[in-house]
Amino acid sequence: MQEKLKALAEAARRDITVAGEPARVEELRVRFLGKKGELSQVLGSMGKLPPEERRSLGEVANRVKAEIESLLAAALERAEGAKLEAELRGPKLDVSLPGRGVRPGRRHPVSRTLEDVVRTFARLGFDVLHGPEIELDYFNFEALNLPKDHPARDMQDTFYVETASLGLAKVPGSPVLLRTHTSPVQVRAMLNQKPPLRIVVPGRVYRRDSDLTHTPMFHQVEGLLVDRDVTFAELKGTLDAFVKAFFGSSTRTRFRPSFFPFTEPSAEVDISCTQCGGKGCRVCKQTGWLEVLGSGMVHPNVFSASGYDPREVTGFAFGMGVERLAMLRHGIGDLRMMFENDVRFLEQF
Ligand code: FA5
Ligand code: MG
Repeated sequence: MQEKLKALAEAARRDITVAGEPARVEELRVRFLGKKGELSQVLGSMGKLPPEERRSLGEVANRVKAEIESLLAAALERAEGAKLEAELRGPKLDVSLPGRGVRPGRRHPVSRTLEDVVRTFARLGFDVLHGPEIELDYFNFEALNLPKDHPARDMQDTFYVETASLGLAKVPGSPVLLRTHTSPVQVRAMLNQKPPLRIVVPGRVYRRDSDLTHTPMFHQVEGLLVDRDVTFAELKGTLDAFVKAFFGSSTRTRFRPSFFPFTEPSAEVDISCTQCGGKGCRVCKQTGWLEVLGSGMVHPNVFSASGYDPREVTGFAFGMGVERLAMLRHGIGDLRMMFENDVRFLEQF
């Protein structure tokens, strides 16, 4: 028995003094001093000994136990100290370094241009209105005097929504599409409000387009003014005021005859080139002019489809591409850069 206890004490000294981690120290505590540990096992067989021997053996056992306890305590302290030191030394942490400040974001050039356009018209007394991006063919085309199979529909390559896959195939009515322009909101506004009306409609529109000056998604701002005796002179005055406010007071406008089914007469509006001032350069393709928007006097058929009496009221409408305006204002060469989300590009505005 004595021998067993001696061997136990030696094993404890050998193993505990090299324990490097707190978990390992605990493991050894269980092994030597635990309820079913080695010491308990030795003492368990003591009952069979005569009382004399039992006492002296008990003394030895107590000494061994005390020694193991102090070995464990020392080992634990050492292991925990080492662990803490390793943590402090670990990943380098310099608490004196200055913070890594939050970099301020900024408004996207398209958002800022859109807000500028809307604010300019708000100063002229226009209300701001919104409409759905997923639109009925009826509002996007038919009510705007673009009946089915009208050739002018080809001017706007359209994304149709597959209503069959949405379980809408059996619902009679108009096909569904992503609106190709903000003009359908003209009709929605007139169906909802009595004249006079003076609104601008900003929003996203979609076409199957992609090149230097066309993206599949872009923004338009629609304008509509309806009242008694509105004339083309007021259309010209309003758009000229807008162009001067937006591009600068020396900018000139030019109204060029054009065609839109929902306006008659129709005009494309050009501005004197923002790069060369009208002398002719690469940007304006040597013409001195840049196209910025479409416009015209509201067609009587559009009034009729919208519940207005074309004998009572007249009005003008216009629609402009916001990305195009931003391009002209900032001299951006490729419209697609607006949507590539390259921070180096976006940070310039
Ligand atoms: C229209 O969309 C008419 N609804 C405008 C209008 C409204 C005329 C009211 C009369 C009365 P248009 O298809 O030309 O017209 O488009 C208007 C502007 O949108 C263009 O001048 C151009 O600036 C911009 N635009 C057209 N397609 C794209 C495209 N794919 N990417 C970026 N901008 C585009
Ligand atoms: Mg076009």
